[in-house]
Amino acid sequence: MNSTPHFPIYLDYSATNPCDPRVVDAMIPWLREHFGNPASRSHAWGWEAEEAVEKARADVAALIGADPREIVWTSGATESNNLAIKGAAHFYQTRGKHLITVKTEHKAVLDTMRELERQGFEVTYLDVQEDGLVNMDALKAAIRPDTILISVMFVNNEIGVIQPIAALAEIAHAAGALLLCDAVQGYGRVDIPATCDLVAVSGHKIYGPKGIGALWVRDGVAPAPLLHGGGQEALGRSGTLSPALCAGFGTAAALMAVRRDADAAQVERLWTLAIERFGPGWSINGSSDQRYRGNLNVRRDGLDVARLMSALRDVAFSAGSACASGSGRASHVLRAIGLTERQARSSVRLGFGRYTTEAELTEAIDRLMLAANAQRIAA
Ligand SMILES: Cc1ncc(COP(=O)(O)O)c(C=O)c1O
Repeated sequence: MNSTPHFPIYLDYSATNPCDPRVVDAMIPWLREHFGNPASRSHAWGWEAEEAVEKARADVAALIGADPREIVWTSGATESNNLAIKGAAHFYQTRGKHLITVKTEHKAVLDTMRELERQGFEVTYLDVQEDGLVNMDALKAAIRPDTILISVMFVNNEIGVIQPIAALAEIAHAAGALLLCDAVQGYGRVDIPATCDLVAVSGHKIYGPKGIGALWVRDGVAPAPLLHGGGQEALGRSGTLSPALCAGFGTAAALMAVRRDADAAQVERLWTLAIERFGPGWSINGSSDQRYRGNLNVRRDGLDVARLMSALRDVAFSAGSACASGSGRASHVLRAIGLTERQARSSVRLGFGRYTTEAELTEAIDRLMLAANAQRIAA
């Protein structure tokens, strides 16, 4: 466990996870010799490809606790969220044209909502409390007779905060609205309540491949399709499926189920180590209790994270989300929990998981603190 760290040290697990080698092994045959199209119903190449796709669907469904027939393959959770939000909005618009979401959601949800606003829908963006959690009374107050969908993320990708999805689903249902849960960061780590109506998940956040995701659509819910052209998938989602990506995602899901306790114990150990190492002067952004412990978002007031990053080229971590750090804007999530622009810019996100060693984490934090202290001395 405490072997010499490998450089660069990867601490950006919230952005993406390394692929489990067993996932890669499961994918290779479907790229090499078994090249069939799973929609070819007339020969053995198609049949075996279809079998692989359906086996994977069952594994992905089992990790959610769903029926495989309720799983639609997508190109990733961005598509899953788009399908769920636009699909539900268009299908149920005769019932109402109002949707509710939260200011701390991923751009895959927020930008999709903005697009719906351009199409004449109305969207309420809820504030969150200082700990990052949705206030139930604020949600109840925002609900209107024409509210058709409420979209709330399970585990936040920037601050790891876990929303009380079961309670939110109850409120949504009491008002006759659907609940969409973007469960990308919690899938396989935290139990997804069976009362959700739509659940978005992604392969690359569970040690699987990028470019594949899924949407769980509860029986009886019918979002309008996003893509047209063949209708290979249930609910009319079109496009030739990749058996390699499906097999990779399925294997990753099956491994998550087996590794769940070991992975949880590992992140717990790493979290405790990291918290002790940072010590005073650093504050945790977002709730520390209602949180996935593989995400540590911390700040030290006055820290210049851009300078910190250029001083630490062999440690991979993030300032806010991957997208936010590229845009130069302070993270919308950190601003939504009440941090000032400066505080948000003084925050770093470390993400760790299955392959992070204690030695790597210790070394990375020590380097980070050294570089942060150097800024104080220079100031
Ligand atoms: C919470 C959340 N939702 C959606 C996405 C988008 O998923 P994908 O990369 O599969 O499109 C991500 C990925 O960063 C995420 O963390």
